Amino acid sequence: MHDTVNNALWLPAKQAPFSVGPAPYTAPRGREVVVRTRAVALNPFDRHLQTIGAFASPWLNYPMVVGHDLAGDVVEVGEDVTRFQPGDRVLGLAGGVDKGRNRAAEGAFQDYVVLLEHMMTPLPAAMSYDEASVLPLAVSTAACALFQEGFLALAPPELERQRRGETVIVWGGSTSVGANAIQLAVAAGYDVLTTCSPNNSQFVRALGARRAFDYRSPTVVADLVNALGQSRCAGAVAIGPGAALACLDLVVAAGGASTVAVVTPPATFDGIPIGRGRLRKLLPILVNNATGLLKLMWRAKRRGVATPFVWGTALIHNEVGPMIFQDYLPEALARGAFEPSPPCQVAGHGLEAIPAAMAMHEAGVSAAKLVVTL
Ligand SMILES: NC(=O)c1ccc[n+]([C@@H]2O[C@H](COP(=O)([O-])OP(=O)(O)OC[C@H]3O[C@@H](n4cnc5c(N)ncnc54)[C@H](OP(=O)(O)O)[C@@H]3O)[C@@H](O)[C@H]2O)c1
Repeated sequence: MHDTVNNALWLPAKQAPFSVGPAPYTAPRGREVVVRTRAVALNPFDRHLQTIGAFASPWLNYPMVVGHDLAGDVVEVGEDVTRFQPGDRVLGLAGGVDKGRNRAAEGAFQDYVVLLEHMMTPLPAAMSYDEASVLPLAVSTAACALFQEGFLALAPPELERQRRGETVIVWGGSTSVGANAIQLAVAAGYDVLTTCSPNNSQFVRALGARRAFDYRSPTVVADLVNALGQSRCAGAVAIGPGAALACLDLVVAAGGASTVAVVTPPATFDGIPIGRGRLRKLLPILVNNATGLLKLMWRAKRRGVATPFVWGTALIHNEVGPMIFQDYLPEALARGAFEPSPPCQVAGHGLEAIPAAMAMHEAGVSAAKLVVTL
């Protein structure tokens, strides 16, 4: 395979424009697998790495290939791989920008990607690459929030659902992370209450949420507390701007829960240019983030609630990665017990189409995941 031609969407340096160009084909070692990418999905962090990678991921080696989500075909496996062989259709989390991996060969936005066997799941025959590619980072981030020690530390998801009589709050249920958090928490046996825009209520209920409330409503926190009734709150996953403080108020009012897993930072990193005008835009955002985090930490400490910040690729390095990609998803997808969600919306074809699709994503999506086919 070593003469295979590979191409990548390169991030050549900090705050540089993306550019498509040749990339080495990297042979798999040990428990690594090389996958020919057929579809990639877009996450906010993929584009933020271009604009704020210097702060958010200062360890990055450049030139780097970003991208977390992909589905494709296995072409070569390392000598210790037992679960896959060439020709298998798979989805997987590309961990290239994770601090513990930090390797361009493991970024999703290229034709041939090195994945880790324990972060891959085979696709059911009826599932397309486009559909499957929406899952990896969203399901990983949700799983980090729900199942890791130091976060909600819930019981794992199971195919035969047990009812635990407790409720998890997923604030932002119509986001990609939220749609996966709802499904995982339900599979783990918890009731779920969530928030979204009213037009997405049906969508989140179809994923298993018991009730959905509009996050813009002035009474949303009180409404969620009322909806909990006698059910113990097992914790909250805070997704979306303003979610962390609202969830903190909620778990305190509900009593019982001691953890809010924070997925979204206090201030958005959207809209930062890579060239002229960068500092003028960046500085207030950094200040707002720092003050927002201090406010959250201070309030949380006073009220005895933990508010750990979720890092969506952390599960690569602990038991939660195999719990999801190896033990739960293969059978859950095959049985239709877990849906790739939100539904994919194809935004273009080819590596060249990814920057425009990133801009489309920045302009806003609702209960949809933008995908580029390769
Ligand atoms: N910490 C990590 O490792 C990590 C990893 C992945 C993502 N994230 C963060 O998680 C968040 C979601 O990312 P994503 O890719 O899942 O998002 P996404 O699918 O692109 O989010 C779009 C959705 O955001 C919802 N939304 C907008 N404002 C909201 C608010 N104030 N409260 C709740 N929901 C709101 C909208 O819901 P409606 O249309 O129903 O209004 C829309 O459906 C982002 O902040 C992202 O940066 C963090």
